[in-house]
Amino acid sequence: MNLDRFAEILPQLSQLLLDAVNTGASLGFWMPMSQADAVLYWREVMQGMIHEKLVLLVAEDGGEVVGTVQLLLADRQNGHHRAEIRKLIVRGTHRGHGLGRALLSAAHVEAAFRGRRLLILDTRTGDAGERLYESMGYTRAGEIPGFTIEPDGARHGTTIFYHVLP
Ligand SMILES: CC(C)(COP(=O)(O)OP(=O)(O)OC[C@H]1O[C@@H](n2cnc3c(N)ncnc32)[C@H](O)[C@@H]1OP(=O)(O)O)[C@@H](O)C(=O)NCCC(=O)NCCS
Repeated sequence: MNLDRFAEILPQLSQLLLDAVNTGASLGFWMPMSQADAVLYWREVMQGMIHEKLVLLVAEDGGEVVGTVQLLLADRQNGHHRAEIRKLIVRGTHRGHGLGRALLSAAHVEAAFRGRRLLILDTRTGDAGERLYESMGYTRAGEIPGFTIEPDGARHGTTIFYHVLP
């Protein structure tokens, strides 16, 4: 994704994130998420792209953004073989048709191209993502109970996965 295209689709990316968060996805934000917070978040992503710490992949259908995923490239000297998969999101209307799997596969291709063969990620324990990651060869490293906290004080566990690309 180049930065010019990123600027064009920023409103759509914000809407994608808003819709996911505001329908209960665990993506780091409480609902209701505001448009302003979504735009601020994508500006942070843009900074990561500018500093070449982050790769953003976007799926479009007829010019409309329908999914996204990110690769956060570890920048420590001892971590140049490693990346974190972040913010895999498919638009509600497009779920259940293999797009999430396709985005993750595309992220694997991109990671391998950059020599990042050790992938890590975390997901809310019990979410749909767990089945997806396991079916894509990820190994469950463990669970951290009470990792996230909601406005009402409710806490949720997170499950950490890793995968070594061939
Ligand atoms: C998780 C998400 C990306 C999956 O996208 P998708 O395009 O619907 O996924 P796919 O159609 O490629 O399905 C791939 C696999 O995921 C699992 N899966 C997808 N939706 C599921 C659901 N509702 N319940 C349980 N498993 C599910 C299944 O194992 C599925 O494989 P199968 O169809 O062979 O059974 C999508 O639900 C989403 O955007 N959720 C909100 C954001 C989010 O929570 N992201 C994960 C952050 S870690």
